Amino acid sequence: MIAGDVAHVRLATTDDLGALLAVERAAFTRPWTEASFRDELARTDRVWLVVETAGEVVGVGGVADLAGDAHVLSVAVAVDHRRRGHGRTLVAALLSEAAARLGSRRATLEVRESNVAARALYRRLGFTEAGVRPGYYQDDGEGAVVLWCDPLEEGRS
Ligand SMILES: CC(C)(COP(=O)(O)OP(=O)(O)OC[C@H]1O[C@@H](n2cnc3c(N)ncnc32)[C@H](O)[C@@H]1OP(=O)(O)O)[C@@H](O)C(=O)NCCC(=O)NCCS
Repeated sequence: MIAGDVAHVRLATTDDLGALLAVERAAFTRPWTEASFRDELARTDRVWLVVETAGEVVGVGGVADLAGDAHVLSVAVAVDHRRRGHGRTLVAALLSEAAARLGSRRATLEVRESNVAARALYRRLGFTEAGVRPGYYQDDGEGAVVLWCDPLEEGRS
């Protein structure tokens, strides 16, 4: 993180929709839609967080719990704000909140095989790569690396 770039993580609200969509659209070829974000933010079995610097939303992430497993749904940091530790802060906060609010004990997610940045980020946070699901992504047939963090505490430091 650079000097003066103090990050603040908080729960996302519908007031953040515009910012959430902007960050997601810049990060993914198939971003979440406004309707899906509205549904997600209304659910009690999800946690969506934003990271702000200087009052600007620069990152967004969401997590769902299924039978004690926290599934990381999405994590994205605005292009101009990457490599400043926000992704790491966001994922660590998502895991903490999943444990505290949803009762999660482990965490998992899928990442594109080519996503070097995300794979490095999750490895740094204590996730291990359990295998590849070939052809997982329907738009281009790319495989997904399946990552696990078990127990959850490993990824929260
Ligand atoms: C993946 C992503 C969220 C990382 O966000 P970020 O704020 O740049 O990440 P951080 O600055 O917290 O980086 C933490 C660590 O992750 C690794 N990392 C992050 N970006 C990396 C890159 N481009 N190349 C290699 N390693 C990288 C490094 O180990 C880094 O630690 P370091 O900077 O001390 O070396 C961001 O690149 C992004 O939004 N990508 C597009 C969306 C996406 O792919 N999301 C993940 C799939 S759900």
